[in-house]
Amino acid sequence: MGPVARKPLMVGNWKMHGTYFEAMQWVQALSYQLDLADYDRVDVGVAPSFTSLRSVQTVVQMDDLPIHIVAQNVHWAKEGAHTGEVSARMLAKLAVSHVIVGHSERRRHFGEDDRMVNRKARAALSDGIVPIVAVGETLEEREAGDAEETVGRQVSGALARIPSDQVARLVVAYEPVWAIGTGRHARPSVAQEMISHLRNRIRSRHGEAADQVRIIYGGSINPGNVAALMAKRDIDGGLIGGASLDPGTLAACVKYWT
Ligand code: 13P
Repeated sequence: MGPVARKPLMVGNWKMHGTYFEAMQWVQALSYQLDLADYDRVDVGVAPSFTSLRSVQTVVQMDDLPIHIVAQNVHWAKEGAHTGEVSARMLAKLAVSHVIVGHSERRRHFGEDDRMVNRKARAALSDGIVPIVAVGETLEEREAGDAEETVGRQVSGALARIPSDQVARLVVAYEPVWAIGTGRHARPSVAQEMISHLRNRIRSRHGEAADQVRIIYGGSINPGNVAALMAKRDIDGGLIGGASLDPGTLAACVKYWT
């Protein structure tokens, strides 16, 4: 059997940017620059804030756009006394197909640990939403020679108790913390090495699911470096922050694949 073809995935993570109205304009502007050949070749997603999800859903459905709606966070409980939180079922009803769990900004500023990330990933899956499990080492961890160990532990923790057939469907995003929002992307060989390591680690526990799971890279991607990064064998796409706030720039990154 030849190598498994994994469809690339490019997601714009808008973080805490944009009102609902701006988010509608951005998704529309993005769609003007993409055509069916692009969507055929690459899965495209945008991750607006919670307050913009409903509006983005309206644009996507009214214009029948093949753009995935991605949430930036989810709570693990089905429902309950969790003031300020949002459940997977609430997201699923807004046609959210993917959710980012364990972004380093949430790990760092909101105390999310591997166990919470795992609970979030399982909650998403149980409502039919694909988790995008974000992992990555800090500069200190890399300089101490602990990058592979740290990121490997994050992945194993996030995937705990998830059956292999579900692991095959999910997405892992390798986002080295030192590359996020710094303008300093990982060297393509460094990103490839880590992503290949993660795939092997997933293979040791989940077998062939490792050939299907999409592992994408994030951290200062822009149209100038996207080609070198995406050309690497194990890199299946990108999670794009700052550069995704301009729809033209996000479209240019997506179009690397076509
Ligand atoms: P930047 O592309 O701004 O570095 O952000 C990456 C990121 O955190 C995407 O989730």
